[in-house]
Amino acid sequence: GIPKFVKIVEVGPRDGLQNEKNIVPTSVKIELIHRLASSGLSVIEATSFVSPKWVPQLADAKDVMKAVHNLEGIRLPVLTPNLKGFEAAIAAGAREVAVFASASESFSKSNINCSIEESLARYRAVTRAAEKLSIPVRGYVSCVVGCPVEGPIPPSKVAYVAKELYDMGCFEISLGDTIGVGTPGTVIPMLLAVMAVVPSEKLAVHFHDTYGQSLPNILVSLQMGISALDSSVSGLGGCPYAKGASGNVATEDVVYMLNGLGVKTNVDLGKLMLAGDFISKQLGRPSGSKTAVALSQV
Ligand code: HMG
Ligand code: MG
Repeated sequence: GIPKFVKIVEVGPRDGLQNEKNIVPTSVKIELIHRLASSGLSVIEATSFVSPKWVPQLADAKDVMKAVHNLEGIRLPVLTPNLKGFEAAIAAGAREVAVFASASESFSKSNINCSIEESLARYRAVTRAAEKLSIPVRGYVSCVVGCPVEGPIPPSKVAYVAKELYDMGCFEISLGDTIGVGTPGTVIPMLLAVMAVVPSEKLAVHFHDTYGQSLPNILVSLQMGISALDSSVSGLGGCPYAKGASGNVATEDVVYMLNGLGVKTNVDLGKLMLAGDFISKQLGRPSGSKTAVALSQV
């Protein structure tokens, strides 16, 4: 059976916006987070404390965080690639962070400019500092089925990195199909390998929708016992260091499917669509959510 409740981690303000060429005003980012929060989403990844040279769009991380960190009843994790980012995040009021490793050596180099092992050493320093402050740390593994440079990635590599993140104290491991190449045919063996070393209740899935495979991939993940997943309002998103990667699966489409399955999320689809409508208008393009497009025509 599939879980009765699914936790959605909304990554639109971070993964969704990080790849936008035109700088989105800080006030728009703040309003987006408020609108998402009012739809009932309980976890919203707000921004990243990364190098502004690498991700100029999120150079206003401090201002965004300062404006939203007091939002009640909601968790607002932020990405931190190293101790410098962690310290800046905490100073701006963050109470939860995420570190991001890769199962592909080439992608690790192009995304965070270091090897997998070097990144794990950095993340051990972050998790140690976080533990002292009782700050929960989420761990991402990128390229869990494929890498833009190396092609297919063996499940054993994903399991290795996931276990390292789990063992250093990450409370949840999010498995990212960064370039959206996975199908249930590759996702199932990857999940089986990871579940052999990390309990399924500690796992989340993070699908980009490049080939339109996210919903079937999510369905098989739920059938395998995973009950946390990442998505992005309007299907915004993509990693600037993953060529050809399109947006995350749209949160509206995920909520529509989960509603149809009778799975609770506590998210109000109508209010979520208003948040999607707001950001799509700000970016000047139609929503990437099929559900939002369909429901706005009726
Ligand atoms: P580097 O150039 O190797 O860093 O970048 P460095 O340690 O050599 O320092 C160089 C300069 O950067 C120094 O400044 C540092 O102070 C500064 P300078 O002396 O030249 O003026 N610096 C920083 N500034 C602000 N915040 C920091 C920070 N750290 C150093 N935290 C680094 C290494 C990791 C910083 C860089 O590569 C980086 O920021 N990468 C982030 C890339 C990124 O954000 N990618 C997207 C997120 S991952 C993703 O989307 C995948 C995911 O969604 C899952 C999936 O889809 O699979 C999570
Ligand atoms: Mg992503």
